[in-house]
Amino acid sequence: MFIGNVEISTPLALAPMAGDTDLAFRTICRELGAGYTVTEMVSAQALCFQDKKTLPLLELGEGEHPAAVQLFGCKEDVMEKGAAKAAEYSGADIIDINMGCPMPKIYNNGEGSGLARDPEKAAKVAAAVVRGAGGKPVTAKLRLGWDKGHINCVELALRLQDAGVSAIAVHGRTTVQKYSGRADWNLIRAVKAALSIPVIANGDVFSPKDAVDILKRTGADMVMIGRGALGNPWLFQQCAAALRGEPVPERPPLRERIDTAVRQIELTARQKGERLACLQARRQSILYLKGIPYAGYYKEKLCRVETLEQVYELTKGIKRDLKDPEE
Ligand SMILES: Cc1cc2nc3c(=O)[nH]c(=O)nc-3n(C[C@H](O)[C@H](O)[C@H](O)COP(=O)(O)O)c2cc1C
Repeated sequence: MFIGNVEISTPLALAPMAGDTDLAFRTICRELGAGYTVTEMVSAQALCFQDKKTLPLLELGEGEHPAAVQLFGCKEDVMEKGAAKAAEYSGADIIDINMGCPMPKIYNNGEGSGLARDPEKAAKVAAAVVRGAGGKPVTAKLRLGWDKGHINCVELALRLQDAGVSAIAVHGRTTVQKYSGRADWNLIRAVKAALSIPVIANGDVFSPKDAVDILKRTGADMVMIGRGALGNPWLFQQCAAALRGEPVPERPPLRERIDTAVRQIELTARQKGERLACLQARRQSILYLKGIPYAGYYKEKLCRVETLEQVYELTKGIKRDLKDPEE
């Protein structure tokens, strides 16, 4: 499939997740079969001020293409300038606009899902981003609507298409739902049926079967996976096989999974330094330990690591203590 002039050969995307889909995690997901990645959301306003903390969010991995930078904001001039800066600094192939963030501090500013409440304004912002992106395709990621009484995804998507957007990702929940309930794949189908540009289906893909089903049910061009990949990047490998109609490979044994968690911490340390990597490991590595015996005990220890050396010691101990129940 193509998004504008950008070819995407594997229709499997890693969803943007602030705090989780940093360069390290995206690198691992790509190695395991994600065909398209999106950065964590980046403030267009902060980009315009060349904020020191914001610029590293734009960094893409070596060979991380095709990939998008996701921007949030609601002012046309700021978003136009932000798009130009994002395109210049990151080398991303695509600029994505966040129209789905359900956090009050974002939507109360008219950003994220606050922007999606006003399709006319959202279309003007999208047109501004298209101008700023200097020929790179622009996409938008949205939810179904504000709440179940205000479903506007089809109207919004049509307006964005008219504004020059090249693809739309739809998370099948409303803003009010946040992450509760089930994603409604039927409404994603309605968006796909109404548009001539590609649609990316997102919400509740936790298994290879879900990936096959969501594409079948929605008719979408690509599937986007978020929470299902956290601590389980092998989901991409499994989904890629399922989509090709091949046998689904087993998840690797515990030892190998722990090695991957350690590698993620090392990659994070390379980009952000050892201290931050260890702080992040407290949250992210715990996800890799889900379901193992004595997980609580190891999690508690992980929450205290401060150096890579301590990470190595601890994980060596886990590998020694535990025999993988799946082995
Ligand atoms: C921790 C977390 C952070 C997220 N951050 C973003 C973000 O920065 N931009 C965005 O468009 N969506 C964000 N999302 C939403 C996801 O991209 C995705 O739409 C949602 O998790 C549904 O997909 P899933 O069921 O596969 O997880 C975030 C979700 C989570 C759980």
